[in-house]
Amino acid sequence: MSGAVTRPGDAVVVESPTFYAALQALERNGLHAIEVPTHPREGIDLAALAQVFERHRPKACWLMTNFQNPLGSLMPDAKKRDLVALATRYQVPLIEDDVYGELYFGARRPAPAKAYDGEGWVMHCASFSKCLAPGYRIGWTAPGRFTRAVTRLKLSSSLGASIPAQATLAAYLEKGGYDKHLRQLRHALSVQQNALLQSVARHFPDETRTTRPDGGYFLWVELPAHVRTLDLHRYALSHGVSIAPGPIFSARGGFDHCLRLNYGHAWDERSEHALATLGRLVRAFSAAA
Ligand SMILES: Cc1ncc(COP(=O)(O)O)c(C=O)c1O
Repeated sequence: MSGAVTRPGDAVVVESPTFYAALQALERNGLHAIEVPTHPREGIDLAALAQVFERHRPKACWLMTNFQNPLGSLMPDAKKRDLVALATRYQVPLIEDDVYGELYFGARRPAPAKAYDGEGWVMHCASFSKCLAPGYRIGWTAPGRFTRAVTRLKLSSSLGASIPAQATLAAYLEKGGYDKHLRQLRHALSVQQNALLQSVARHFPDETRTTRPDGGYFLWVELPAHVRTLDLHRYALSHGVSIAPGPIFSARGGFDHCLRLNYGHAWDERSEHALATLGRLVRAFSAAA
């Protein structure tokens, strides 16, 4: 998406922390990431974003308004409206990565920022990767005023998406099982989030802080300040437990004592055992410091 509105050497705004693959994609395309602080509940800091727009004139801004990876933040509607107004004022294309928007635990799907986009500066993107299966490699976009540029880029880069995969998905959507599947998935994720939160409370030190997102797959965890999660990650792996350490979510470093936990799997004895192991390691790291 960023290829339709940028050239190598351009600056692109991302959230901080952000999904590491976004940082990798920018790097691969020769783009310079400018990281803007992002609140664990309400999303990107709009005052800081306005300053970056004013000072650096970035060519795009790539963010997740709904259940951000890794924080799980959900931007309130009024803030989404302000975000779109800001991007429109500075004429900065807003690449809205909304792959988690359907995975809400509340009563209704949160609106995307695209809902407030009167002038076409929002390039809304989503896919079936998080709701059905990543293997289809099928997604879609509503890129507003950049539709022609995106279409041209898609044609020249991959001609088009796989027809058999699209036909399979279309048949599935027509049969009407998707809504039921989504309801079950949302329910399962919310139950699993609860189990994970309770397990963290049981096993981690009292100073631990976690987000409690209203949807999505991830918890963001802040450990006591001196616990280095890159080291914790290595130790945990040698005990058969995989975590995503905070520093991988920023190109600038930082988030040394933070980590992302995933509640995408059904909760069972193995999960409880993994969390107990992790909690024991965190306590040992904490005591050693
Ligand atoms: C925020 C975010 N965007 C995009 C993707 C990838 O989506 P896709 O598989 O449709 O390329 C992921 C997958 O982890 C993600 O977390």
